[in-house]
Amino acid sequence: MTNATTQLDRMPAPVWNSPEPPAVPLRPLRIGPLEIGFPAVQAALSGYSDGAMRTVARRLGAPYTLAEVLIDRFILELKNRRKTQHYLQIADEEHPVGGQLMGSNPADFGPAAQKLVAAGFDVIDINFGCPVKSAVGGCRGGYHLGQPDLALEIVDRVRLAVPSQIPVTLKMRRGIDDTAESRDRFFTILDGAFERGVAAITVHARTVGQKYVGPSNWEFLRQVKSHVGQRTILGSGDLFTAQACLDMLRRTGVDGVSVARGAIGNPWIFQQIRDLIEGKSPTVPDVAEQRRVLQMHCELSVQATNPSAASSTMRAFGLKFARLHPNPEEVRNAFAAAHCLNDWNAVIERWY
Ligand SMILES: Cc1cc2nc3c(=O)[nH]c(=O)nc-3n(C[C@H](O)[C@H](O)[C@H](O)COP(=O)(O)O)c2cc1C
Repeated sequence: MTNATTQLDRMPAPVWNSPEPPAVPLRPLRIGPLEIGFPAVQAALSGYSDGAMRTVARRLGAPYTLAEVLIDRFILELKNRRKTQHYLQIADEEHPVGGQLMGSNPADFGPAAQKLVAAGFDVIDINFGCPVKSAVGGCRGGYHLGQPDLALEIVDRVRLAVPSQIPVTLKMRRGIDDTAESRDRFFTILDGAFERGVAAITVHARTVGQKYVGPSNWEFLRQVKSHVGQRTILGSGDLFTAQACLDMLRRTGVDGVSVARGAIGNPWIFQQIRDLIEGKSPTVPDVAEQRRVLQMHCELSVQATNPSAASSTMRAFGLKFARLHPNPEEVRNAFAAAHCLNDWNAVIERWY
């Protein structure tokens, strides 16, 4: 590993919309009975945070990770087939790990949550944030932010269905849009969920309407944290660098940060945050370290699925890891042209 900030400097700057507030001291993160400690976790990322990505993140310093969102009907119908069994597979070294549920019918949530508990997930997270058309149009994910009664019925059903020692958590956006009604509904769900025993809430400070475009409103996160007092809030949005993660913790007072796009292709971000907390400049992986981790990720992916599925996953990850390579464009193009694992390994041999 080499100390350099040049690669981090290429990432977008964090967004902060108000004058600098006084820095809030960092605290160990707790999710209900679980002592997570280090307050930067690996977010749920559909298409990415499978067992392989989660294991890599844990090995490189993430104290807690979340699996990609699963639709409740899909979980209920999931058979123990080779093609799909990896969705519910958890390696021993992954714990604590959260499973995330999304759905439309409140009655499906309880049984689906129980299936996640039986699979070994340590936390059950409910998704009230997904903005994609098929989710919102299908009355799932972010749709529920407009329906506080339904959302809280879902919370009740999940909390009642899973054993009391298993924390139930929520993922929310800051609302459907920026209207006053949307803000009121957000706080109705937030307060109602904590009253019903939810252990922590992750707030992505973009609206559903924003999808992934435009700034995440960190000022909103500061308001949410000061509203809930001692209750646990994790912040999300615009955490592309270790410095941004530390800034969000210190400026908004949230109890933890949920690192999403900033961790795809940079699993070292968790170590980099630790470095910054210790007053060191963040270590940046040299090419040999990048090769080691890419190959480790690939092996884990093949073990969990099969060479064909692993090759498309690792192609997607390769495109992201390429950003840290001294020749990012060439390496990106080489990964883009890799159509099987042999091609992918040839990129590693040529460039790493
Ligand atoms: C490709 C992709 C997949 C995502 N999948 C999920 C998911 O399955 N569950 C979830 O709660 N959030 C999901 N998110 C949202 C992220 O967890 C996070 O809240 C969002 O990306 C904002 O953080 P960022 O701006 O730092 O990336 C996803 C985001 C992206 C970009």
